[in-house]
Amino acid sequence: MIGAVDEGTGSTRFTVYDNEMNTLYSSKRRIRTFHNNRTAEQDPNEIYNKTMINIKDAIKRFHIRAIGVTNQRETSIFWNNEGMPLANAISWQDKRFSSYAKMLKKEYGDLFIKKTGLIPDPYFSAIKIKYLMSRNPLLREKAANGRIKFGTVDSYILYKMLNRHVTDYSNASRTMLFNIKNLEYDDEILKILDIPEKMLPEPMPSDSFFGSWHGIDINAVLGDQNSSLFGHNLIKDDPVKATFGTGTFIMSLTSDLNGSSRLLKTIAWSMENNIKYALEGSIFDSGSFYNWARSTFSGDPVYQNRIVMVPAFSGLGAPYWEPGARTVITGIDYNSTGSELLSAAIQGIGFQVYDILKEIKNRKYMTCDGSGSRNEFLMQFISDLSNIDVITLNEHEITSFGIAAMAGTASGIIKDINKPGIERIYTPSGRDYRYLYKKWRHAVNLSIS
Ligand code: G3P
Repeated sequence: MIGAVDEGTGSTRFTVYDNEMNTLYSSKRRIRTFHNNRTAEQDPNEIYNKTMINIKDAIKRFHIRAIGVTNQRETSIFWNNEGMPLANAISWQDKRFSSYAKMLKKEYGDLFIKKTGLIPDPYFSAIKIKYLMSRNPLLREKAANGRIKFGTVDSYILYKMLNRHVTDYSNASRTMLFNIKNLEYDDEILKILDIPEKMLPEPMPSDSFFGSWHGIDINAVLGDQNSSLFGHNLIKDDPVKATFGTGTFIMSLTSDLNGSSRLLKTIAWSMENNIKYALEGSIFDSGSFYNWARSTFSGDPVYQNRIVMVPAFSGLGAPYWEPGARTVITGIDYNSTGSELLSAAIQGIGFQVYDILKEIKNRKYMTCDGSGSRNEFLMQFISDLSNIDVITLNEHEITSFGIAAMAGTASGIIKDINKPGIERIYTPSGRDYRYLYKKWRHAVNLSIS
């Protein structure tokens, strides 16, 4: 059997599959995020301990031969040689060093885009590393001497399980230090940021043999959105996929690394010595914003054309890239109802998806997973706006499915993949949202001004 660790922002999950990729078991534990103004942190011990409880519970019941690890990306952890974290993890949602990111974008934007495929933003690990180093020069010295290590969540879990300081190419490509063409940390970028290479994990292909834990091979590692793209790609050829979790992440495979775009270019995965690249549009507040709206406004979503909300608790990601953007609500009056406000929150998520889809050429349909794909109002709204079919799958955990499929293939366990099927196809209803979209564009301008 194959086990999949999916350490996401809101929870850590462990799922067990048989050799045809049928789900046998799954357990999930919540992970807390500590928000304070524009900062967002998590406890690395909580992440690791809860992940291990899940794994240990499962191995008591199942004979697992291979494990794949997939994880929230960019979130940065710093630890000493004993694996003790030095501080809380700085989450991908953290915006505390926006001013520095802004300066980098202005001065070196083209260089970063050309080498890393990323648009400088506090979202990426490099800014978080730089923040910590600039606050404490002693740390930099220790890091240069190999006494302090940095890693994304995959890297921290692997270090504690295997005592190896490693990561995979997809996670490395989210640090903003990794040259996605020559597959190495980029010397020029390390120099600009004054980050010692010694503190960084060794990047490896996603389907490498990372090591053995109690006789179980760990043989696949991928960022969670990349894993979900891998899973969608097994189900539908060359999809545009959207995963609706804490944020929403839209990705499609590409081979064009040079064309200009307001989306990111990133390593999708590397398997059997073959690198795949993806275009990505990242939305920072999606499930997080929906949960806030759901607990604030009562009622059911309705068609409404008056209120607009721009969800920007963590700034705005693609295609606007404005870390300093603020949440904006326009159009409320005495008669506004809870239902209308809730609808506007959901529509705010949909508008961002639409703005990203407009940047992807030849889109014919979009396949969706994650908790938000169960929201019929949102799925129909996106289909109406973008005039394409929006497809939901009868397996909502494609992220776990993707990494398990990669680990199972790498270990030779999988015989035949029992692929998830289509749950529902939302087709454009012809409803006209042009008036509301105009208001949306206006509200986005207010949010970033
Ligand atoms: O880039 C951040 C992303 O990997 C987080 O995904 O599913 O934990 O919201 P999720």
